[in-house]
Amino acid sequence: MQVIHEPSALQTLCLGWRRQGLTVALVPTMGYYHEGHASLIRYARSVADKVVVSLFVNPTQFGPNEDLEAYPRDFERDSALVRELGGDVLYAPAPAQMYEADHATWVEVPELASTLCGVTRPIHFRGVCTVVLKLFMLTQAQIAVFGEKDWQQLAILKRMVRDLNVPIKLVGQPIVREADGLALSSRNVYLTPEERAQAPQIHNSLVAAAESVAHGEHDSARIVDGIRAYLKEHLPCGEEDYISIVHPERLTPITTITDTALCAVAIRVGKARLIDNILLKA
Ligand code: PAF
Repeated sequence: MQVIHEPSALQTLCLGWRRQGLTVALVPTMGYYHEGHASLIRYARSVADKVVVSLFVNPTQFGPNEDLEAYPRDFERDSALVRELGGDVLYAPAPAQMYEADHATWVEVPELASTLCGVTRPIHFRGVCTVVLKLFMLTQAQIAVFGEKDWQQLAILKRMVRDLNVPIKLVGQPIVREADGLALSSRNVYLTPEERAQAPQIHNSLVAAAESVAHGEHDSARIVDGIRAYLKEHLPCGEEDYISIVHPERLTPITTITDTALCAVAIRVGKARLIDNILLKA
């Protein structure tokens, strides 16, 4: 495995692979790996000749009062894992290598980015789209792999790729959970033991919602009220950011579930803002 910091070195290497007719898969990450990241890298390894994992805590997707500085980092452990999983390149640029001082070009999908997480994180998806498109250009990857925990991110990136005719296939991989149901996240390290003990209730509330839909409840407002009541009882240290039922691709609100809908939540638990989701099938 090669560790590359310089964008031009990555681009030259990947263009060479493409000229040889090799397939390149990209796994964009911000590091501090857990089993969820490992599942993305394993998937990439199983479908492509060459696997590039990017590790970059992208400053442009963090708001002024967010956790850019505190975001957990462990380069040695992360690089050992990518090597063990058979990654060919770990691309780890410094911010100044990804963004010129006078960087002025941004990619936005406002229709999908102004809802759910975008309400409290207004610049987040602009930063995500811009850095991910830059990674696509640098790697010339034909496949990119993302976790479905960040469902909105994946929906936005799919729309960006479609709208801009980017020649790449985006693949989502299922959420990986702890044994008690908590969705794996690098930010789970922010949880105190007490908060950690309660946090799986987020997933439990979503499972209860999916069961109620399967049993005939199709009214979104009642389902959201049910989740809210469940969390009030079982996750008293949590504070709701949003609980929403939306179209899985368009992310528009759904009032009556007639087909498949996405139930997405963001709950603040202490210093962590935890997101999770589940598909509701009528
Ligand atoms: O999901 C993430 O870790 C980040 O948003 C991504 C896609 C690596 C872009 O910085």
